[in-house]
Order: sequence, then C-alpha cells, then structure tokens
Amino acid sequence: MRIAVAGATGNIGALTVAALERGGHHVVRISRSLGVNLETGDGLDEALTGADAVVDVTNCGATDRAEAIAYFGTTTGNLLAAEQRAGVRHNVLLSIAGVDRVDGNAHYAGKREQERLVSEGPTPWTIVPATQFHDFAEMVASWTEQDGVAPIAPLLIQPIAPADVADILAELAVGEPRGRYADVAGPDPQDLVDMARRTHAARGHSVKLAPTWSTMFGPTMAGNVLLPAEGARIAPTTFEAWLATL
Ligand SMILES: NC(=O)c1ccc[n+]([C@@H]2O[C@H](COP(=O)([O-])OP(=O)(O)OC[C@H]3O[C@@H](n4cnc5c(N)ncnc54)[C@H](OP(=O)(O)O)[C@@H]3O)[C@@H](O)[C@H]2O)c1
Repeated sequence: MRIAVAGATGNIGALTVAALERGGHHVVRISRSLGVNLETGDGLDEALTGADAVVDVTNCGATDRAEAIAYFGTTTGNLLAAEQRAGVRHNVLLSIAGVDRVDGNAHYAGKREQERLVSEGPTPWTIVPATQFHDFAEMVASWTEQDGVAPIAPLLIQPIAPADVADILAELAVGEPRGRYADVAGPDPQDLVDMARRTHAARGHSVKLAPTWSTMFGPTMAGNVLLPAEGARIAPTTFEAWLATL
C-alpha cells in the first residue's frame, strides 16, 4: 500500500515510517522540513497523490489554549480536505488516552478539536488514544529545568514505548478503518517523578526534581484520569526494558 505519514520526522513518525517500510509498504514522508506544510497546505496535494491511507502524528508546541485549537484545527482541516481531493480511504490519528477527562490543558483542548474534525470528517477514520510515552518524563522535565531544578507534576500514568505505538499505528493503517480504537498503553503504571529520576540516572543527567501541580500539568490531571480505560490494548515493552536501551 501507499501510505503517507504526516509528522514523518518526529518521535513517533520516524518509527512509524520504519515499521511500515519493514512491512513492505511505500511511505510518503510529510513534514515542514521536507517541504510539506499542513498549516499552509503547501505540497500537500502532491504528497497525497495515490495515497491509500494517511497516518497523522504531527504535533503542536502551543501552550495557549486558543492557539493549540487553532493550530490543530487548521492543520487537520487542510489534511482532511486534501485527503478528500486525493481519494484517501483511511485517516489514522494518534491521540491521547483520557483526552476527554482532562480540562485546562491547552494541548488536550487542541487534540479534542483534532478528534472532532476527524470523526466528523469525510475520510473513514481510526483514532488511536495512546497513553504517555516512555520518554515523556524526561521531555516534560526538560521543559521546566532551570539552574539544576526541574518542577514536575507527580502524574500517575501507564506509559508505552514509542516503538510499540509506531507498530500499532502501522498495523492499523494497513487495515480497515476502526473508528475510535481501544486505548493503547504500556504494561505498568508509573509515577512521573520516579520515571524522570530513573531516566536522568540512566542518562547520567544530574537535576533536582521538584514535585508540584503548578506546571502546565495541573490538578485536573491527578488521580486516575490518565490511566487507560477498561479493555485497553497493552503493548509489551516495559519502562525498565526501554530504560535499558538508553
Ligand atoms: N508525548 C506523549 O507522551 C504522547 C502521548 C500520546 C499521544 N501523543 C501525541 O503524539 C503525537 C506525535 O508526537 P511526537 O512526540 O511524535 O511529535 P514530534 O516528535 O514533535 O513530531 C512532530 C512531527 O510533526 C511535524 N509537523 C509539525 N507541524 C507540522 C506541519 N504544520 N506540517 C507538517 N508537519 C508538521 C514535525 O516535523 P517539522 O517540524 O519538520 O514540520 C514532526 O515530524 C502528538 O500529536 C501528541 O499529541 C503524545
């Protein structure tokens, strides 16, 4: 099959391209650095010519709610319109487990807008709600680290290996549209502060972690809200196994 991966140079995108190519599929790579921009539509029609399916693993760094909604709204709208022109038969969107249960986070508001447009849009779709990735703790600690201290929320999550997410996306992209798929998660619940501490130790990075609910992850993300729902698909790679690869 011919499959376009939007966000092909990103964390999950690069692994999804590799998984699809291992399966013998022809992959078209989409990202701004490769000359295709979902925000402006530049290069999109050419990229989707002949594509059977699209995997959307783009991202948005906006921390303002209105900006995140506008960005995901524009990029997803442009992608869906181009898919319709090209006759694409399947849109696979990577989303976040529990996205409807969390209020007050700009990225989540943007992802809900993306989900709304895909589920009401013209292309048959699969939405894959994933839990946070194994590298999530070090990423969020890096956002706040200053003078050797990183404020970080003590979130309860059940993280998944990026390569396992990519394998699931590749598997679903070559199948029939499934609508809202089960949550996909890793095998074990983890405390985000502990994950950050263990990742930093594995990397030999010295930083003091300061647990707090005053970062961009506030108390609406406490408790069980980020854990996968009943019936989740559990991917095999443990956090410990992923740490051992660093
Ligand atoms: N991190 C987590 O724990 C987690 C958990 C569940 C779900 N997710 C979701 O996973 C998705 C992917 O995350 P990621 O960490 O793999 O992202 P990432 O590493 O930041 O990669 C984003 C990709 O999107 C491309 N991109 C961004 N804006 C674009 C545009 N306007 N046009 C074309 N390409 C564009 C980027 O390339 P260029 O910069 O070259 O354009 C890059 O290839 C996100 O939507 C996120 O919500 C993340």
